[in-house]
Amino acid sequence: MKKNNSYLLDLIKSQKDNFSLDQSFYTNKSIFEMDLKTFFFNQWVFVGHISRIKNKGDYFLFSIGEESIIIIRENEDKINAFYNVCRHRGSHICLEEEGRVRKFVCPYHAWNYDLSGKLLKARMMDDNFKPKNWSLKKCNCIVFEGLIFINLSENASDFQNFINPIEDFIKLHGLGKAKIAARKIYPTKGNWKLTLDNFHECYHCQPSHPEYCHVHSKDYIQAYGAGSNTGPESKEFNKKLETWNKKVKKMGYLTGEFSEKKFSKFFRSAERTPFSNGKLSETKSGKPASILMGDFNEFDGGYTTIGPSPFNSIIMTNDFATLFTFIPKSPTETEVELMWLVNERAVEGIDYDINEITWMWDETTKADKRIIENNQKGVLSSKYEPGPLSKMEIGLDKLKKWYLKHLELKITK
Ligand code: FES
Ligand SMILES: [Fe+2]
Repeated sequence: MKKNNSYLLDLIKSQKDNFSLDQSFYTNKSIFEMDLKTFFFNQWVFVGHISRIKNKGDYFLFSIGEESIIIIRENEDKINAFYNVCRHRGSHICLEEEGRVRKFVCPYHAWNYDLSGKLLKARMMDDNFKPKNWSLKKCNCIVFEGLIFINLSENASDFQNFINPIEDFIKLHGLGKAKIAARKIYPTKGNWKLTLDNFHECYHCQPSHPEYCHVHSKDYIQAYGAGSNTGPESKEFNKKLETWNKKVKKMGYLTGEFSEKKFSKFFRSAERTPFSNGKLSETKSGKPASILMGDFNEFDGGYTTIGPSPFNSIIMTNDFATLFTFIPKSPTETEVELMWLVNERAVEGIDYDINEITWMWDETTKADKRIIENNQKGVLSSKYEPGPLSKMEIGLDKLKKWYLKHLELKITK
C-alpha cells in the first residue's frame, strides 16, 4: 500500500458512526480524484433521455472529470456513446454541447468518422494504413425505458443484474414513451458528498422546503422523506401505507419497496407510497398536472421514488417524472441536472403547464443549492469538525458507511 493510501486508510478508520465526515472528504483534491474513479466511473448512471436526441445524428456531450462522452443517435433504433477523442492525435471532435451531425469531422486535421464511430477518411496516410483499426472508442451505453445509461468502467457490471430489483418500479411509469418537458441545471458549490448528504436526509425539509412540506404530509416526511427507513418509523404513515397498498393491489398496480440488504457496489432503492389528503400529483393543488403515463388508466394517489445509484434519482407521480443526475465537477462543485418527463402524447398548454410540473422540485432544488453552498462554506473553515447526526439522518449515515467501506476496499485490495 502506498504511503498516501495508508494515511487515507487511517483517516477512513477514524470516522465515527453517526457523525458527518472529516473536512478532507469534502475538500481534498486527491480524495476527489479517487472518488471519481471508485464511484462515478464504476456505476451505471443515466445521463439523458432518448427524446433529447430524436433524429439521426442528434447528439449531446456529457462531461465528467477529464472525460467527454458523445451521446449520439445513429439511427431510429440505435444510440451510441463515444469518447470525444480523435484517433489521430487526440483532439476533441465535437466542440458544441449539443447539435446534429451527418458524420464527425475532427476540427484539427479533418479525419472523418461515421455515426457508428468508423473512420471513413484520413488524408495523406501511408498505403498500409487501415482505417478500420482506427474507430472512435466506445463507452458502455444502454438505453432502458428511454433512459440513456452509461458506465465508464473497463469492467462494467452486468446491466440486467444492476437494474433487476428496480426494473418493475421504472417500467410501471412508461418512461420509454415519454418526452422531456423541461430540463434545468443547478451548478452547486458543494462537494458531491455534501450534495448527496442533503438529498439523503429530510431533517432539513421542515426549515428549508415549504413547497415540499406543502405537498407531502408530516408523517411521510418523518419516515420516508429521504426514502424508506431514513427517519424514525411513523405508525400513522404505516397505517396509511397499508390501506393504500390494499387499494392499489386491487387496482392492479405495483406496490412495495426495495432496499439493499447486503453490501455490494450498488446503492439502489425503490418504493411506492401514497400521498395524503386526497392529493393525486406532486403539484401545488395536489391535482393532476398532465395525462397519465405508463400502465396507469386512473390515478392511484401514489408516488414512486427510485435511486438507481447515488448519482441518480427518479421521482414519479402517475402523470409526470422528475429525474436527477448529480455530477461531481471538482472537490467543491457539483452539477445537479433535473429533467421533467411527461407522456410523449401530452401537449404543452393543453395537457400540461410546465410551471405547474416544475414548481416543487425547482423551488426545492434552488433551496438545496443554497443550503449546500452554505454548508460547504462552513466545512471549509479551520473550526469545522464532524458533528452528530439526528434520528432523521439515517439515510445519510447509510450512504456514508457505503462510501467509506468502498473506499477502504479500493485502497486495500
Ligand atoms: S487530431 Fe483529429 S484529425 Fe488530427
Ligand atoms: Fe432538500
